[in-house]
Amino acid sequence: MTDDLEQAIDEAAHLIVRARHVVALVGAGLSAESGVPTFRGPEGLWTKHGEPDLRDYERFAQDPKTWWEQRIERAGRYGELVRALETAQPNAGHYALRDLEGTGQLQHIITQNIDNLHQAAGSLAITEIHGNRTKLRCINCNRRWPLDGFPIEELPPHCPDCGGIVKGDTVMFGEPIPHDALEECVNQTRMCDCMLLVGTSAVVYPAAGFPVDVKTSGGTLIECNPNETPLTEISDVVLRAPAGAALPRVAGRVREMSVG
Ligand code: APR
Repeated sequence: MTDDLEQAIDEAAHLIVRARHVVALVGAGLSAESGVPTFRGPEGLWTKHGEPDLRDYERFAQDPKTWWEQRIERAGRYGELVRALETAQPNAGHYALRDLEGTGQLQHIITQNIDNLHQAAGSLAITEIHGNRTKLRCINCNRRWPLDGFPIEELPPHCPDCGGIVKGDTVMFGEPIPHDALEECVNQTRMCDCMLLVGTSAVVYPAAGFPVDVKTSGGTLIECNPNETPLTEISDVVLRAPAGAALPRVAGRVREMSVG
């Protein structure tokens, strides 16, 4: 570990300990060390296969039955991602966020990841702005269910509460962010005075806008990413390292500072 990184870890821990409301904004990079491919960058899914079509959600809304009938074929198209997601386990970065929450030093996680690894690591205060691959969601009332055990007797399935159409909870390209998730993200961003940016390229909105709001309101930003991002220049501390290496060190330093 370089001296610069050691110093950055110390500075990050100081910002976290001094803050009142710490929020982690998480991207695919946190799950990279769990074997889940990221989207951009040299080996990224979109780099290799191209980004999905922004009209995907429009097509679903026009013909949800066909969308449901083609779900097996779609899984085949992203077989690399599906296989990785089915075997992925939380890594040291996920557990470090869980530990920071456990000691009261992290109040909320806003994750762009759909992999359910925060829950698997034991984190509790989570908003999944892009949904969760293990859940279904009614597009009318936003009620969600675990995928396992939901009775799919017809295609498309309908919500037992409101009769709305049910789809995978994962937010599709072109799909509006579910308003309940977005409201919580805005609420958390408003309360946040220190945002920990973990493994996100910070190019997809609205998520990429939350750190700018925190900074504009006088809060601090800590970036944890082996690579530069558009947020690097406004970050107060940069941990230029993989999350699985840096975050446990930050959590350990925070613990040391908290016991005095
Ligand atoms: N630790 C921390 N960061 C890492 C690691 C690691 N081990 N490995 C890679 N990264 C960083 C990369 O440098 C990059 O900045 O993670 C980031 C991943 O960027 P993206 O692949 O663009 O993922 P993300 O920012 O989550 O994308 C946002 O785009 O297509 C949508 O829905 C998709 O939620 C996703 C959103």
